[in-house]
Amino acid sequence: MKENLKAALLANAQEPIFFDRILYCDRDLLPLEQEYIFRRTWLYIGDSASLSTGDVLVTEAAGSSILIVRSQDGKVKAFHNVCPHRASLLCANGIQQVKQFVCPYHAWVFNLEGQLIGTPHQEGLPNIFRFEDYSLKPLRCEQWQGFIFVSFSDNVPPLLEYLGDIPASLGRHRTDATKLFVKKHYRVACNWKNFHDNTLCDYHLRAVHPKTLHPIQGPVHLYEHHFSEYVNLLYTPTTPQWREENQVLEHLTGRIRIGNFTYGIFPNLHLVALPNGMLGWLRIDPITVDTCQVNLEVYGIPGITEEPAELEAGFDATTCEDIAITEGVQRGYASGAYTPGIAHRLESRILHHQRLIRRFLLRVSDLLKN
Ligand code: FES
Ligand SMILES: [Fe+2]
Repeated sequence: MKENLKAALLANAQEPIFFDRILYCDRDLLPLEQEYIFRRTWLYIGDSASLSTGDVLVTEAAGSSILIVRSQDGKVKAFHNVCPHRASLLCANGIQQVKQFVCPYHAWVFNLEGQLIGTPHQEGLPNIFRFEDYSLKPLRCEQWQGFIFVSFSDNVPPLLEYLGDIPASLGRHRTDATKLFVKKHYRVACNWKNFHDNTLCDYHLRAVHPKTLHPIQGPVHLYEHHFSEYVNLLYTPTTPQWREENQVLEHLTGRIRIGNFTYGIFPNLHLVALPNGMLGWLRIDPITVDTCQVNLEVYGIPGITEEPAELEAGFDATTCEDIAITEGVQRGYASGAYTPGIAHRLESRILHHQRLIRRFLLRVSDLLKN
């Protein structure tokens, strides 16, 4: 790691001070983030309910192409989209129904369990060739409530542990009737951490979202923060106005029945949940040092959660307000005129994830040094 990046990560580590601008502007950092943050955590992929047996979803995670497949035994599995013969991609992006994978390069054939089951002109392969040495490389793949996550790392804790108190608090928001209501993405001209910081920021709601989010979040003195190792939470009670206008799930009780939950999940994920069965995922993928893609998925229960069009309009309005701010912040970082500022109490969730980023990247720099 370059010395100036390392110095920026080490600066103000014990203070409530934000990251230096170069951590949002230096293009040498992104490959390190992919390797040492995104490949060492859990990454959200999507809903397993959208995959029938034989369906393959080809998508990107941590800068690599991966396959998510529901195999014949009904289990959802993940593999690198890389042929073990000579590294060709096996499948093009998107969802497709397959019985087996046939590599487009030399037509080696793999079953949905990732095992090699056929090679053309096998007689030409050397004697040392064995089918079992050439399976597709698996990735860890676990689910919470049918939502799929993958990890490139064997060292990250099991998903349910990683997710902190989410399984306990939101374990009953999803029902058999839950459906995908909204799916869309936004291209944003800012570094992924800039947009992530903003989504962890509970200080800007009144100024930036006076008509959209602020009326749903309610007054600041009722905000509660909770932290586990990788996950943080802004809990607010739903407002009287929200309760008047919305149904809630009958089986929810206590704090969960009246709660508006906004989780930040390291490194690039957010989950918002309301007691009307709404579950919204926001995942921020880096594209370049100053571009990211924000992927939005909102789930709901027909007849209970607000209508899809209404939800989409609400998320759209809020996200556009956030895009205007974060693109402005990126220009501020790029100007060179910013020195790290001080964090308000309502920006504690940002500091939590900045500490994790520092920990993951500095561990690397120690490794590289030794
Ligand atoms: S690279 Fe896939 S069969 Fe050769
Ligand atoms: Fe915002």
